[in-house]
Amino acid sequence: MQMDGDISERYRDFASYAEGDSDCFVEWALGVADDPEVHAWLSGLPRGKQQPNLVFAAARWHGAESPAPYAELKRVLQEHSEAVMATIRDRATQTNEVGRLATLVPVFAGIAAESGPLSLIEVGASAGLCLYPDRYDYAWPPAGALEGSGGPTLTAAATGQLPVPTRHPLIAWRGGVDLNPLDVRDEDAMAWLTNLVWPEQDDRRTRLREAIAVARREPPGIVQGDLQAELPGLVRRAAEHGSPVVFHSAVIAYLDDDARRAFHDTMTELVADGTVRWVSNEGPRVLPGVTQGLDVPAGRFVLGLDGRPVALTHGHGHSITWL
Ligand SMILES: C[S@@+](CC[C@H](N)C(=O)[O-])C[C@H]1O[C@@H](n2cnc3c(N)ncnc32)[C@H](O)[C@@H]1O
Repeated sequence: MQMDGDISERYRDFASYAEGDSDCFVEWALGVADDPEVHAWLSGLPRGKQQPNLVFAAARWHGAESPAPYAELKRVLQEHSEAVMATIRDRATQTNEVGRLATLVPVFAGIAAESGPLSLIEVGASAGLCLYPDRYDYAWPPAGALEGSGGPTLTAAATGQLPVPTRHPLIAWRGGVDLNPLDVRDEDAMAWLTNLVWPEQDDRRTRLREAIAVARREPPGIVQGDLQAELPGLVRRAAEHGSPVVFHSAVIAYLDDDARRAFHDTMTELVADGTVRWVSNEGPRVLPGVTQGLDVPAGRFVLGLDGRPVALTHGHGHSITWL
């Protein structure tokens, strides 16, 4: 049986990427890379659907134990081949990482201290789990903490002169837009979202379940559509309730270069005329106008306020370096 070199290469790349985060996915990815039978099976899928994250999630959805040796993945791919294939075709990988709030809140709190209650507009909101900064406590060791919400604690290690908030930002309104909004009340959608968390990441899974419970008490209104198209309407609605803040994390990378530039221009205009404040949290190459040539270590995001960099952050919110 023929090996597909391209599939091998992509699964080997994924194994390097997963190193340190999931021994199970490293073993599964290397197993697939060397397995001609699984290559033949994957060849029946469109290239965009052959990605390890989606294939592994679908196998776990259909009963693959994890962490477990590669033989367990292969067993499920063989025994439940059609069902796994259908899940891969029907579903997508889409994350929502509430841990990022630990890095966004110092900026939200600073804006609220200047402008009063915030109207939060999240573009690329997924399930909208990051729309509840007022429902969590925060720890920023060793810089300080913010308590009193009665909710779960989110932690980000701090370096630099982090402006530790003394009170939670008041949120007057919250809403957002996503190409594919996930409804926190939909058990199946939330089970799939939880299933996408990697096997060994128990803390992340716990945090996600807590965040779903928080959002379910007051489900967010998330419009289905493209962020650029829906933004003006959302800003108008938000402005009726409080000071509009447009924010996003790990979203603009999904836009092509023209759309990134158009979004940057739109936000720059909205900030310049005083319509909104803008909080961005993206990889360093995604919005070069915000990164402003900073030297950013691998794996870090640039946190921007109104188009200027204010901090470097861990991609999942585990740490923040104030600039
Ligand atoms: C990696 S997720 C990040 C979700 C959330 N911001 C977070 O930090 O957890 C990216 C999200 O952006 C959404 N997205 C991508 N392109 C979009 C667009 N053009 N308009 C609206 N949403 C978009 C995706 O559907 C997905 O939910």
